[in-house]
Amino acid sequence: MTDKQTREEILRLTRLYAEERHCGEVDFKPGVTPVPYAGRVFDADEVEAAVGSSLDFWLTLGSEGEDFEREFARFLGVKRTILVNSGSSANLLAFSALTSAKLPPERRIVPGDEVLTAAAGFPTTVAPILQNGAVPVFIDNDPATLNARPELLEQAYAPGKTKAVMMAHTLGNPFDLGAVTAFCEKYGLWLIEDNCDALGALYNGRLTGTFGDLSTQSFYPPHHLTLGEGGAVNIARDMKFKVLVESFRDWGRDCWCASGMDNTCGKRFGWKLGDLPEGYDHKYIYSHLGYNLKPLDLQAAIGRRQIVKLPRFIAARRENWESLRRGLAHLEEYFAFQIPERGSEPSWFGFMLRVKEGAPFDRTQLGRYLDEHRIGNRTLFGGNLVRQPAFTQLALDRPGAFRVAGKLTGADTIMNRVLFVGVYPGLTRKMLEYIVATIDAFAGKF
Ligand SMILES: Cc1ncc(COP(=O)(O)O)c(C=O)c1O
Repeated sequence: MTDKQTREEILRLTRLYAEERHCGEVDFKPGVTPVPYAGRVFDADEVEAAVGSSLDFWLTLGSEGEDFEREFARFLGVKRTILVNSGSSANLLAFSALTSAKLPPERRIVPGDEVLTAAAGFPTTVAPILQNGAVPVFIDNDPATLNARPELLEQAYAPGKTKAVMMAHTLGNPFDLGAVTAFCEKYGLWLIEDNCDALGALYNGRLTGTFGDLSTQSFYPPHHLTLGEGGAVNIARDMKFKVLVESFRDWGRDCWCASGMDNTCGKRFGWKLGDLPEGYDHKYIYSHLGYNLKPLDLQAAIGRRQIVKLPRFIAARRENWESLRRGLAHLEEYFAFQIPERGSEPSWFGFMLRVKEGAPFDRTQLGRYLDEHRIGNRTLFGGNLVRQPAFTQLALDRPGAFRVAGKLTGADTIMNRVLFVGVYPGLTRKMLEYIVATIDAFAGKF
């Protein structure tokens, strides 16, 4: 057999194996079969792509990565997507880019500058602000939409100090982009949209992740599209961010050669930067204190097969959310459900249940009951983040490291009363019916 024939045979057998091993119907037994809140959804295409990439053995980010970046940017409608190894890395890189000395001095974020963000959510939306020496200023969330309340931005704003807004579209529900972008334009602030949980969500008919200067994605398995591990930074408009984000991703280097290339700028030995001697090799000139946050090409190969399925995944999430919403409508006496932001079409990450005040049970009882019945459930990530040990310790270690603007009663309500169950495309009709019946049975006990 030639190499080509051997490869084809391996891939043919791989598909056969994947179809038998991974693609069969789940024999769902209520109360026995786990109903996860999220999970990877794939078929023989992704397994074939992973094995094919392994056989090529390029390993580091290469042609699959470039194709993924192009295809993803086209899907979203942004100038550029840069693939990284996680959503948390994407947040770190998007924020780090705003600290570059290559930006105009009045826009560059320096230590002590303030960044407005939401109190309830995922910790790595906020951590990059602190990791760069800037000061997160927390505003409250609305427990109905789960998003930051935009009317609080004005009172949190500090002239001369506030430089950016960085926050997430919670559980796939776009935050009020009309109000937030108007606020950012009014004061000349950067906007980073953490779009990790909201891929495919629309605000006034336009995809989230395209409004801010930069936006981020996570491709960890619970998310709308998975590469196993992975994430991306999207550049909506201004291509100057490409070199900055890539520099921070790739060790902080000044050079922008792709892997395996040597002289893209055409003057590899013609630069004079810092106090280095004239002509020092551009490949080893560092304009930032960077990281190495690149994924493997194999991950991109898997991701490219996932992008093709993305419209179907997003539609399934919406259908599953609607089906839970309809099925649980009769329990509104006890539960509040997440309200889509005005003018938006969410791309749901999960289905929120908020236990109403006065209900004869609490959120923890509900969570325990769902666990006992093998239904995956989660709190809204870190709840009110300032109550997390990392932040109570920070307040002791470095008073003034963060600021709270106003009261965080909404974030506390979310911390105390909210959980969410799954809507991911791997849930079958029977599983959704089982979730409804189980919550119904739980409420019926009181
Ligand atoms: C809103 C939000 N931002 C960022 C992240 C971090 O993504 P990753 O797990 O890929 O680091 C998550 C994780 O789920 C998230 O929910």
